Amino acid sequence: MTPNINVFERPEDAAHAVAELILTRSKEKKKQSQPYNIALSGGSTPKLLFTVLAQEYLDSVPWHLVRFFWVDERCVPPTHPESNFGLAYKHLLKKVPVPDANIFRMQGEADPQGEAFRYQTLLEKELPMHKGYPQFDLVLLGMGEDGHTASIFPNNMKLLHSEVSVAVGIHPDTGQKRLTLTGRTINQANQVVFMVTGASKSNVLSQIIQMKPDNDKLPASYVHSQSGTIDFYLDKAAANEL
Ligand code: 6PG
Repeated sequence: MTPNINVFERPEDAAHAVAELILTRSKEKKKQSQPYNIALSGGSTPKLLFTVLAQEYLDSVPWHLVRFFWVDERCVPPTHPESNFGLAYKHLLKKVPVPDANIFRMQGEADPQGEAFRYQTLLEKELPMHKGYPQFDLVLLGMGEDGHTASIFPNNMKLLHSEVSVAVGIHPDTGQKRLTLTGRTINQANQVVFMVTGASKSNVLSQIIQMKPDNDKLPASYVHSQSGTIDFYLDKAAANEL
């Protein structure tokens, strides 16, 4: 894993930097008359990015060619307050002119195993394949204090190496079922970005980036792009121990 570390003063600055990345990459894809395929994570961190994109990039990003997929989804309806789709829809998707046909929601309300299979089939149809797995242009990840990413938790590391692209995970504390991309599909992406902010993440970030003891027990240690790089967009608080 080759980490590219970008540290910003505030979470807002990190969000702006990721928004600029999306703008730059999507404009490159526009020149190639190609779509820009992004997989979004959930949780609280991306909310700031969604707000920045909706408020400040409404007229600059070529939204008609951006296609939105999900890294993971809680097994709840899209209207549920914990829905990752619901978060993205409320703060971004309903505010920018992304065609409905470009939004590929994981159906959290469906039978989990059946939806995992359906979504994998969808990815294989909608995305280019690379080394036998669907390839995203960008996978946006968060990181839990326990070192989880996507919905791959430390007690279920086998999802990092699963041969399926989409699996059912279970949150270790709540027991909540989740749909999640698996490690092999995440690692085929052209670019993988961790957006991590807040002092509560400083310890786990340090353990992973500085490859401290037991970092091999943390799922986030295993994800990277197909070229082996991994881009971190951090605020100073999260980067405090680096
Ligand atoms: C989810 C996310 C998950 C998230 C981390 C960090 O569905 O919850 O995909 O992997 O990125 O838990 O969450 P925060 O951004 O809320 O700290």
